[in-house]
Amino acid sequence: MKSVTVTGPGRLETVEIPRPVTGPRDVLVKMKACGICGADPHALQEGGIMPGAASSPMGHEPAGEIVEVGAEVTGLRVGDRVVIDPTGVADAIIGGGGPQGALSEYLAVREATAGRNVIVMPDHVPWHVAALAEPLAVARRCVDKTGPRPEHQAVVFGAGPVGLGALLALKAHGVRHVVVADVQPNRLEKAIALGADAVIDSRTEDVRARLVELHGEGTDAFGRPGLPGTDIYLDAAGVPAVAQTVFAGPKLGAVFGIVAIYHQSVEVDFQQLIPSELTIVHSMGHPTEMAAVAQDIAENTDKYALIVSDVVPFAETARAIDLAGRPGATDKVVVTFD
Ligand SMILES: NC(=O)c1ccc[n+]([C@@H]2O[C@H](COP(=O)([O-])OP(=O)(O)OC[C@H]3O[C@@H](n4cnc5c(N)ncnc54)[C@H](O)[C@@H]3O)[C@@H](O)[C@H]2O)c1
Repeated sequence: MKSVTVTGPGRLETVEIPRPVTGPRDVLVKMKACGICGADPHALQEGGIMPGAASSPMGHEPAGEIVEVGAEVTGLRVGDRVVIDPTGVADAIIGGGGPQGALSEYLAVREATAGRNVIVMPDHVPWHVAALAEPLAVARRCVDKTGPRPEHQAVVFGAGPVGLGALLALKAHGVRHVVVADVQPNRLEKAIALGADAVIDSRTEDVRARLVELHGEGTDAFGRPGLPGTDIYLDAAGVPAVAQTVFAGPKLGAVFGIVAIYHQSVEVDFQQLIPSELTIVHSMGHPTEMAAVAQDIAENTDKYALIVSDVVPFAETARAIDLAGRPGATDKVVVTFD
């Protein structure tokens, strides 16, 4: 079978390798779609997930059809359409420096567990949309950690795939007002199409003033006036301007969820934040969130479909990765198989 593998810095090869052999507790999945993560172009540039390894199979956003089921596996059948949690398998993370990557024609899921590392999707979800379950579970984890409730008002910074996933996750929790801020107008349009209650163009607008307009005025324990009434700040952008916007004065009891990966450090005056009793939560990966996202994708398939901007055939995976690495060229790239 064919497998897309990094064999050195900037070197991507489609290699011919044996189809994985499954055991009694495994399933074999014929790949149908795999999203390209924003980190994939960087991994390629650096020579693999673990730089310096002889080869590094790529792809960790899998969707496919079960073609073999081990004798001891329960709750999964040949023909099931599934998404796979690449981090929840019994061997190495799929597409994470281990022997398997999801940009391959087949994947063996070791110790397959229905609803946990293999999640069945209904037939109406197209493959390229199903493949969003993994990246958007990242957003779901961060949102869940902020403790959203229907009476809350929230702002999401960044309308990339993760930020849009956070918008949909906040809506899935029933959060009554969700604003999305970005610096790219086309991405803000997408946020509106996905159900954002308002958007803020951070290049041209005063973000805090707009939040006061949209969420009303809040205050801190000292009764400081003029603070945004925003309950949840969700950072899916990862730039110091976002943290500075929050740290300039959140209302008493606000929560700041950070899923974005910062490449610059940020100065914080913690003394100023004491009267806000700000809770800061970070999130990493999605240890338990994929099933909830898969269900939401099944219920709101048309909205999730809007997140995917480019569908590229497997034979052109190199182009897909290149596209995903060009800022502003695309929103979300998904590779599909025959
Ligand atoms: N924590 C984890 O486990 C995990 C996993 C995957 C991805 N991530 C991170 O999540 C973040 C989002 O991922 P993505 O794929 O959506 O990235 P992306 O680059 O597609 O989206 C980021 C968005 O932030 C916007 N932005 C830039 N400056 C801004 C500003 N001042 N205000 C508002 N928005 C601004 C950009 O225009 C862009 O649309 C990235 O930092 C990524 O590395 C974290």
